[in-house]
Amino acid sequence: MIQCKNVAQYRGKVILAPMVRVGTLPMRLLALHYGADLVYCEEIIDKKILMCQKKTNDLLGTTDFFLSDGTVVFRTCADEKDKLIFQLGTSDAKSAVAAAKKIQDCVAGVDVNMGCPKEFSIKGGMGAALLTQPDNVKKILTALVSELSVPVTCKIRVLPELKDTLQLVRLIESTGVSALAVHGRTKTERSRDPNRDSYIKAIAEALSIPVIANGGSKAIKTLSDIESFRRSTGAASVMVARAAEWNCSVFRKEGPLPYRDVMLSYLKYAFEYDNNEINTKYCVLQILHDKMTEAPEADRCLTAKSLQDFAEIWSMEEEYGNILMRRKEKERKILQMAGG
Ligand code: FNR
Repeated sequence: MIQCKNVAQYRGKVILAPMVRVGTLPMRLLALHYGADLVYCEEIIDKKILMCQKKTNDLLGTTDFFLSDGTVVFRTCADEKDKLIFQLGTSDAKSAVAAAKKIQDCVAGVDVNMGCPKEFSIKGGMGAALLTQPDNVKKILTALVSELSVPVTCKIRVLPELKDTLQLVRLIESTGVSALAVHGRTKTERSRDPNRDSYIKAIAEALSIPVIANGGSKAIKTLSDIESFRRSTGAASVMVARAAEWNCSVFRKEGPLPYRDVMLSYLKYAFEYDNNEINTKYCVLQILHDKMTEAPEADRCLTAKSLQDFAEIWSMEEEYGNILMRRKEKERKILQMAGG
């Protein structure tokens, strides 16, 4: 019998789901600030992490994984280390292990994406392509479980037939993973299609590892909606994507906040951690989401090009200025200590 690592980490939890472009450092810290127990990073492909250099960024207090042209692929900091799950895109056990070993010191767990229906994933044998490749699933997960010091999990979509889904999840459980996240839609179903909560329930009943329910955002506006989704699926935990993308304060015990509060808090983290302006703009537009016509700042956000632009649009010049001043001072001290 394989001993699963730290299963308790995945029980009774509310979780920020992995989301490409959304699940970068500022949004993850914001979700934790509002009460999420765990946060997943956006999916990052194993080959990309393998191309990265790792560096401690003393100026920002982060650990950065970046490409030779300076592009930051993954930025993290100590505040999230015990709550952060790194999601890997992979089709190959060897590359998956090599990539995961490179980042495992910075995270609380590693997750394998087995649900992405996008063409680039499927063509590369990654994401939802794995749902019908049980031998490779077994190879990848078994290798990760035996080689890593942190818990390993995976996130799937369901198969059209429940019996095939149950066969797949039993195989996944047999590899020794610590939990399984299930998005209750098939790879061809879209967010407008109903989530197959009954499949998640049947999976939760069939497995002994924690099952994390996903796909319920349409009916989630508050923490108690998250709990209702958990109860109706019989799952151990819930993972929220779109509801958090649009209003990250959905995790708050006291109830969600108006979008303006969420925006200001998001931007504070984006400024503090010098988040890339294109990524910041993407997240800002997701927070504005259905407020594009009512928010007076929306048009200017569409044309903003820098963090300074966002500071001006949201009247945060003083806050951003202070952050930049503190950073300059820190840089001076670092240079002084280095004898520069
Ligand atoms: C996603 N999703 C996703 N899933 C995943 O495993 N890895 C990823 O990187 C992404 N990226 C991503 C980006 C964006 C913008 C969205 C909206 C979604 C899928 C997501 O994690 C989740 O499974 C679905 O959105 C269903 O959950 P909700 O939205 O109903 O809570």
